[in-house]
Amino acid sequence: MELRFTEEQNMMRNMVREFAKEKIAPFIEHMEAGEFPREIIKEMGELGLMGITIPEQYGGAEMDFMSYIIAIHELSKVSATVGVILSVHTSVGTNPILYFGTEDQKQKYVPKLASGEYLGAFCLTEPSAGSDAGSLKTRAVKDGDHYKLNGSKVFITNGGEADVYIVFANTDPEKGSRGISAFIVEKDTPGFIVGKDEHKMGLHGSRTVELTFEDMRVPAENLLGQEGEGFKIAMANLDVGRIGIAAQALGIAEAALDEAVAYSKERKQFGKPISFNQGIGFKLADMATAVEASRLLVYNAANLRQLGKPCGQEASMAKLFASKTAVDVAIEAVQVFGGYGYTEEYPVERLFRDAKITEIYEGTSEIQRLVIGKHLTN
Ligand code: CAA
Repeated sequence: MELRFTEEQNMMRNMVREFAKEKIAPFIEHMEAGEFPREIIKEMGELGLMGITIPEQYGGAEMDFMSYIIAIHELSKVSATVGVILSVHTSVGTNPILYFGTEDQKQKYVPKLASGEYLGAFCLTEPSAGSDAGSLKTRAVKDGDHYKLNGSKVFITNGGEADVYIVFANTDPEKGSRGISAFIVEKDTPGFIVGKDEHKMGLHGSRTVELTFEDMRVPAENLLGQEGEGFKIAMANLDVGRIGIAAQALGIAEAALDEAVAYSKERKQFGKPISFNQGIGFKLADMATAVEASRLLVYNAANLRQLGKPCGQEASMAKLFASKTAVDVAIEAVQVFGGYGYTEEYPVERLFRDAKITEIYEGTSEIQRLVIGKHLTN
């Protein structure tokens, strides 16, 4: 199957490639040292990347979903950190407001998110509710024209840096996941406390924090959708979000493959480039085949989404396969580089560390299998 892209989509790919090469690549060492790429986000906002798929009426670029996936894919080839910042901001930070918000909520938040003036985040996971997201304990109690939220969240991507958070809390604990509601929370809300900054294996420029809500008063008008609709809002946006993470994994895998191929042609041992050895050639062949299969799965899921067709199963398949490919290909790339691959001097070491999280966040590989299995048997 040949993937065909429109002229507009190809222009997007070229623009993002150029931007990543010119602006992101030189900043990688700063991100590796833990610096959050604020300036890059600002420039991405100016280029329309922070609101790629957002309708023009809400200040976005109103491009199609494929263009968004192309952007995540291309950004992640250079920096998986920038890839995840954009993916979380868009698919689970902004889209819930666009799809489930009232007109007032959309007018108030979406244009600022689309321009990059605001950064978005998504607060579902808790210390005791990871894969079992429906068991979250954060409590929201209606109190006049406000809700009072108490609880804590962990592993919040963009946390502390973001301006707007989609927060999930239980308004009716007896109803379990059917009692979960979603709220739009601004970071300067009293009682919103940014906690521990995680020191992660990879994605060093992306910020991941704990959040605590202590009697945090959220205006009732910031309830997103109806009370009790929160879990479905989370799941529906994760269905689509997972295509973004799959595209991020594809970018990492492709970058690792490109590095390994180039190095194998340069590095000489026993008087010839190591690419002449079948042991290396077979490795590269397996890596390239897995990358190609990932590409087809990612763009197939994206195409279904674009056509407005159900894509939950295909999104999970794309994420499951592309994330495993990213890990496998990055490990093999380190092997092709040998001792040099284990040093920070070459990018494969970073790609290897960045790859692992794609098998964990936005639903572990085990959860993706569970979702796929449910689709097959329901
Ligand atoms: N779309 C809409 N509704 C859905 C849905 C979907 N994809 N999946 C489930 N639902 C609905 C069901 O229809 C059901 O509705 P009713 O109560 O009306 O019957 C309800 O939600 C509960 O469904 P399940 O019984 O299937 O739910 P469950 O408790 O068994 O959990 C799960 C399902 C798939 C395991 C889910 O808990 C899950 O996805 N877990 C993983 C959590 C996750 O992905 N976390 C990521 C955190 S965000 C992140 O990582 C961002 C980042 O930093 C990068």
